[in-house]
Amino acid sequence: MTDKTILRALKGEVLPTPPVWMMRQAGRYLPEYRATRAQAGDFLSLCYNSELAAEVTLQPIRRYGFDAAILFADILLLPQALGVDLWFETGEGPRMSTTTTAAELAALKAPGDVHEKLAPIYETVKILRRELPRETTLIGFAGAPWTVATYMIAGRGTRDQGPAHALKAADRATFAGIIDLLTEATIEYLSQQVVAGAEVIKLFDSWAGSLKGQDFEDFAVAPAARIIAALKSRFPGLPIIAFPREAGEGYVGFAQKTGADCVAIDNSVSADWAAANVQKDGCVQGNLDPRHMVTGGVALVEATREVVRAFSKGPHIFNLGHGITPDADPENVALMIETIRKG
Ligand code: CP3
Repeated sequence: MTDKTILRALKGEVLPTPPVWMMRQAGRYLPEYRATRAQAGDFLSLCYNSELAAEVTLQPIRRYGFDAAILFADILLLPQALGVDLWFETGEGPRMSTTTTAAELAALKAPGDVHEKLAPIYETVKILRRELPRETTLIGFAGAPWTVATYMIAGRGTRDQGPAHALKAADRATFAGIIDLLTEATIEYLSQQVVAGAEVIKLFDSWAGSLKGQDFEDFAVAPAARIIAALKSRFPGLPIIAFPREAGEGYVGFAQKTGADCVAIDNSVSADWAAANVQKDGCVQGNLDPRHMVTGGVALVEATREVVRAFSKGPHIFNLGHGITPDADPENVALMIETIRKG
């Protein structure tokens, strides 16, 4: 029997105090993160510098004592390892060479050929397993195929994922081929994270909300189910968190359809709705609005208590509904944790 609280919640245990971690907990709101990123040079250099990536992963654990650490990396490193060009425009976000034709898809690497490029990420995981406190759970992750495909097809982030939807309509075979390649490569990538020491895996489908009807089944549910089935057959008992962000009604039954042990909830649904409709099937993670990390005060305390109360009757991992933003105040994070742990 493990004593790690996150692993207990993922097995379905209802704990008196929910374990807590935060998406983007290693990030620009922390001065020590900004200093280490400057030392590395830029964001991608930080991701591929195993010692410094481990260091920024550990910073919020030292400062706050979160119950989990999430590997410091990015969902776009996998397409880069498949042969896509990737860079970050300061203040704007990721840019990539586009993949929209059968020829461009065929020019990418095979799923099993990503490991050389990604070796520093596996090394970060190994360092973390050595250096994390024994009570802290290490979470590895990847992007879900649809979300990663939206960036590969558009060459950047988009508000409505228009280019990916357009390719899906115009050239279904190429679109499905991209999803297929990403599904297989994700299985390979995540397997090596587990071999290196990741204890839990999280699959980020940040743009799942723009898939409707049968598309949601085909491109959010089915790839997640395939990835989870493959991981669980290779690593029996491996706990997996799925995050089909802004899925709305699509959250209902998502754990059963995909085999995920936990579904992460964003802020587009209320905690009470998620408790009644999603937590009834097992563990949920979420869903304090990240704006409270900027605004703080009594409203933060009340909203934190409200999320704890809403999910108190079932297995729950406390988190934000999305990543903490660079303008957040580190003091507010401390206040959130104190409120969760002391009531
Ligand atoms: O949660 C964590 O801190 C773990 C590490 C992690 C990062 N990105 C670090 C990061 C994880 C799990 C991600 C996931 C990710 N990356 C997603 C899915 C989750 C989500 O946020 O919706 C997406 C869509 C990406 C792609 C990406 N990476 C974008 C669009 C951006 C730019 C936007 C931004 O926040 O600046 C990034 C950069 C990025 N990834 C940063 C961090 C800490 C900021 C980089 C910096 O230091 O300048």
